[in-house]
Amino acid sequence: MDLEKLAKGWDFAGQTVVIPGGAGILGSEMAWALVKCRANVVILDRDLSKADALKKRLSEGPGSARLLQADVLSKESLLKARDIIKGEFGRVNALINAAGGNMPAATTGPERTFFCADQCGRRKHACCHDRPGADFFRSA
Ligand SMILES: NC(=O)c1ccc[n+]([C@@H]2O[C@H](COP(=O)([O-])OP(=O)(O)OC[C@H]3O[C@@H](n4cnc5c(N)ncnc54)[C@H](O)[C@@H]3O)[C@@H](O)[C@H]2O)c1
Repeated sequence: MDLEKLAKGWDFAGQTVVIPGGAGILGSEMAWALVKCRANVVILDRDLSKADALKKRLSEGPGSARLLQADVLSKESLLKARDIIKGEFGRVNALINAAGGNMPAATTGPERTFFCADQCGRRKHACCHDRPGADFFRSA
């Protein structure tokens, strides 16, 4: 992707974008592109232990990045994150849900149909995607 070209065409200055799972492969690339387009990006991830390189990369701006530890399967954790986000940014303009990852228990293949995949794994994967809706972060 030509980020220079992208950043010339899109200006998200003053817009706050929340990315649950933003420390992962897809989320971190989207966070980087959005920071290049001047957005304020908030990454929510339950595991920030390997996010140092990402933090450094995002700190180059011109937008901003805030990394918060949060588990999207925990309402308490999400409420805490929501309070911090509202306090620091006022409102959320967009949410891109990238939390989850490739869970073997929820993965299908030639030997493993959707109906064979472990029900708990499927449920957990689906919950990761459904729980942090944009309305949740918008509502007071
Ligand atoms: N990579 C692909 O090609 C691809 C393709 C289609 C769909 N997806 C889906 O997109 C999503 C992101 O994929 P990825 O490749 O970036 O995965 P990834 O494993 O690199 O990133 C997922 C991130 O989600 C975080 N996470 C997991 N559970 C969490 C929770 N309960 N609370 C907060 N954070 C949590 C992890 O710590 C990780 O940083 C996944 O749901 C995946 O199934 C990926």
